Amino acid sequence: MIQGVHAIATPDEMHELGVALGASLRAGDVLVLTGPLGAGKTTLTRGLGEGLGVRGPVTSPTFVLARTHPSLVGGAPLVHVDAYRLNSAVELDDLDIDFAHSVVVVEWGAGMMDGLTDSWLDVVIERPEGSNAGELGEDLVEPRTVTITGHGSRWAA
Ligand SMILES: Nc1ncnc2c1ncn2[C@@H]1O[C@H](COP(=O)(O)OP(=O)(O)OP(=O)(O)O)[C@@H](O)[C@H]1O
Ligand SMILES: [Mg+2]
Repeated sequence: MIQGVHAIATPDEMHELGVALGASLRAGDVLVLTGPLGAGKTTLTRGLGEGLGVRGPVTSPTFVLARTHPSLVGGAPLVHVDAYRLNSAVELDDLDIDFAHSVVVVEWGAGMMDGLTDSWLDVVIERPEGSNAGELGEDLVEPRTVTITGHGSRWAA
């Protein structure tokens, strides 16, 4: 259900996808978010936080590489990582994230998961061709395509 291609028309729909995703995750799960600047990675993560029931606010982790949001409902915390300034999986490993007891979301973490975790979800956000590619505006609502693909035993059929 969650894996596959989702057509997302608005920021609210992106948020709701995150809520649905968050409600289906548990400790040990890892998500890797890939998409250009302004694609909606943080908007999706904000929904995830709501779905998981963690303390907000979820923002771009600008001054820290990883921020932990504790659960308000006795569940797993959400660890939100911005790997944009990390150069390798080694540097991600150096953050000493407690993968086993957290839900971990890594923005810009594509290709860094091998060796760190057996299973993860790849979440790729695209702005379809022909849209105002490159134009960034707070008020510009445009469609997105979100493709979610599982890797490893946790997400095998
Ligand atoms: N269909 C849509 N889905 C998600 N966001 C959208 C959509 N249409 C427009 N937007 C806008 O795009 C922006 C997405 O911002 P967001 O911070 O979530 O992106 P990001 O991928 O985290 O960017 P960055 O790479 O800078 O961290 C918001 O301003 C949002 O309102
Ligand atoms: Mg972001």
